[in-house]
Amino acid sequence: MAPRISAFNILQGRLLLTVFIFILTAFIIVYCIPTLNESSNLTLSFSRFTDNLQTLLLKQVKDLNDKVIRPLEERINNLEIKNKNKYASVKYLAEKDRKRILITGGAGFVGSHLTDSLLLAGHEVTVVDNFFTGRKSNIEHWIGHENFELINHDVVEPLYIEVDQIYHLASPASPPHYMYNPIKTIKTNTIGTLNMLGLAKRVRARLLLASTSEVYGDPEMHPQPESYWGHVNPIGPRACYDEGKRVAETMCYAYARQERVEVRVARIFNTYGPRMQMADGRVVSNFILQALQNESLTVYGDGEQTRSFQYISDLVNGLIKLMNGNISQPVNIGNPEEHSINHFAKIIKEQTNSSSKIVYMDGQEDDPQRRRPDIERAEKELGWKPEVPLIVGLRNTIDYFRKELLRSDSTKDL
Ligand SMILES: NC(=O)c1ccc[n+]([C@@H]2O[C@H](COP(=O)([O-])OP(=O)(O)OC[C@H]3O[C@@H](n4cnc5c(N)ncnc54)[C@H](O)[C@@H]3O)[C@@H](O)[C@H]2O)c1
Repeated sequence: MAPRISAFNILQGRLLLTVFIFILTAFIIVYCIPTLNESSNLTLSFSRFTDNLQTLLLKQVKDLNDKVIRPLEERINNLEIKNKNKYASVKYLAEKDRKRILITGGAGFVGSHLTDSLLLAGHEVTVVDNFFTGRKSNIEHWIGHENFELINHDVVEPLYIEVDQIYHLASPASPPHYMYNPIKTIKTNTIGTLNMLGLAKRVRARLLLASTSEVYGDPEMHPQPESYWGHVNPIGPRACYDEGKRVAETMCYAYARQERVEVRVARIFNTYGPRMQMADGRVVSNFILQALQNESLTVYGDGEQTRSFQYISDLVNGLIKLMNGNISQPVNIGNPEEHSINHFAKIIKEQTNSSSKIVYMDGQEDDPQRRRPDIERAEKELGWKPEVPLIVGLRNTIDYFRKELLRSDSTKDL
């Protein structure tokens, strides 16, 4: 058996070492120092040597300070100042009020504006996106900020992260994008939503689902209140999205009932604004792009079908109010001001001073004829209603499209 080392042994050892050091010091004092003193020459040259050494060392330290350390400090200070000025200034929130927020699909049109609002309000935001339709340029102005994180991830795969709130937006949203790969659209809305609900359950986070007015399909009721169950073709070309979102809603309420996950469901109606994709095939982007390039504005069908358009900042306010409010039932978030597509084409032509003609083409399959939200629930329960007038929102969007067109023109030959 190996001998045990006790505390007593250690103490004994230390005592012996102390006695030894004491004897050695006494020897140096008694014998060595007087001997050195006797030889004054030796003492003198020794003290000169130490003086020179000290001067040399001080010079080297000064050189090092002047040539390396100070310039490095200056560069770090400059970088810090530059970095501070690079970001919009965010509100300071105390630890107890600051939330860790996950936004799936945060590099997309809606997600990037939501990211801006939540960061400016002082929260910490993690964006998860697979960049199917989203772009880094939508959120690049936050990259490197201490409250921001970007993760390249597909929500169809599980995600492990600690957060307090989840805005689940990941899904292609415009018809050409969600019809491009219908199976992937279904997977994103079903498996992706299951993964996010599983995460919400594990970390006890509240989850808000970005659902859509498309859950009402081609509605027989007008305007559409949340109590309307919809009129959806389950096997049509839009079904991957419409039914995908309907199942996603079902999943939210199953998790709420069975697992007590706190859920919020926003039924979002048509939204427009800067950062919407120019070639997403939606009516606003189509018309603005065609008008700015003096191409014909294409209207599908007779143009008497209606849409109601909501400006992006109104939607973002509504989503944040819904997430932090007490209503767990679905809530319509949209602008009830209804316009026929024909009227809309006319407004865009005027606002862009365009000489474009309006041309009519065959209507698209399952294209809803009327779409207008009933927003009574949002008004009553959240105190929310849209505030940005159509003309103001359109001017901002047209400005954005104009700049984007100029940018792409200037880089065409690169
Ligand atoms: N914009 C509207 O008018 C509108 C209307 C109704 C509902 N919505 C809903 O709002 C949400 C955002 O829409 P948007 O207009 O910003 O669309 P968008 O296409 O600009 O943004 C969607 C984002 O989700 C990302 N994404 C897609 N699949 C993903 C996946 N599997 N994993 C990770 N990320 C993925 C995309 O890359 C993109 O960044 C969508 O859920 C959409 O259904 C939008």
